[in-house]
Amino acid sequence: MAKPLYEGSKIELTPTIARHYDRIMNTISFGKYDRFIRRAILDMEISEDDEILDLGCGTGKNAALMADHIGESGRITGIDLSPVMEKRFLEKHAGDQRIEFQKQRIDIPFSIKKQFDKVLLSFVIHGFPHDVRKRILENATASLKKGGKLMILDFAEFDMEEMPWHHRLVFKKVECIYAFDYIEKDWKEILGSHGYENFKEQHYFRNYARLLSAEKK
Ligand SMILES: C[S@@+](CC[C@H](N)C(=O)[O-])C[C@H]1O[C@@H](n2cnc3c(N)ncnc32)[C@H](O)[C@@H]1O
Repeated sequence: MAKPLYEGSKIELTPTIARHYDRIMNTISFGKYDRFIRRAILDMEISEDDEILDLGCGTGKNAALMADHIGESGRITGIDLSPVMEKRFLEKHAGDQRIEFQKQRIDIPFSIKKQFDKVLLSFVIHGFPHDVRKRILENATASLKKGGKLMILDFAEFDMEEMPWHHRLVFKKVECIYAFDYIEKDWKEILGSHGYENFKEQHYFRNYARLLSAEKK
C-alpha cells in the first residue's frame, strides 16, 4: 500500500485488514458487531424507494443490510478508494441491479452529480484531519437532496479520560490519532454550520458509538 494520504491516519486500511475487515470488527467487538450494525441500519429508517450514497463503503456489508430495506425502486451507490474493498463489494452485490460501486476518493470534489435521499458515513469521517472532514461534509451535502438525511454512524462524543482504563487502552492502541479529537467535537453544531437541522441520535456500545441523523435544509 502507498503511504497514507494523511499521516497517522488508519482509515485507509492495509490490504490485509481490508480483506478481513468484517471478521476483525466482529472479533474486536467480542461478536457484537453484527448485531450492532443491523440495529443501526434499522435505525436509519430506510424507505423502499430511498436512493442511498454510502461514502467509504468498505466491503459492502452495510449496503447488503440496507438492501434488505429498499424495494425494487431503491438504489445504493457505494464509494471507496480501496481496490480490495472494490473487489469485495462487487463480489457481494453481483447481479443486484439496485446496487453500484464507484472507485473514488471522498475527500476531493467528486464527479457524482446525482442527489440522494440519504448519505451514509459509517466509521469513516473520524479518521481524517478536521479540515479534510469539512471537505467530506461538503461532498456529502452536495450529494443530498433538500430535505435528505445525512447519517453519520461513528464514535459518539465522549471524554476519553472517563473511559474505564482497559477501554481507553484498546481505543488508544487501535484507533488513529484523528479519532481522539473527533470525539471531543460538537457534531450537531458543526453540521448546523453546514446547513443541517432536525438532529436525531441513537447510541450503541455503552454510548461509545452513535448514529447521528441530520436533515439538509
Ligand atoms: C473503517 S472502514 C469503514 C467501512 C464501512 N463504511 C463500514 O462501516 O464497514 C473505512 C473505509 O473508508 C475507506 N476510505 C478511506 N479513505 C478514503 C478516501 N479518502 N476516499 C474513499 N474511501 C476511503 C477505506 O478504504 C475503508 O473501506
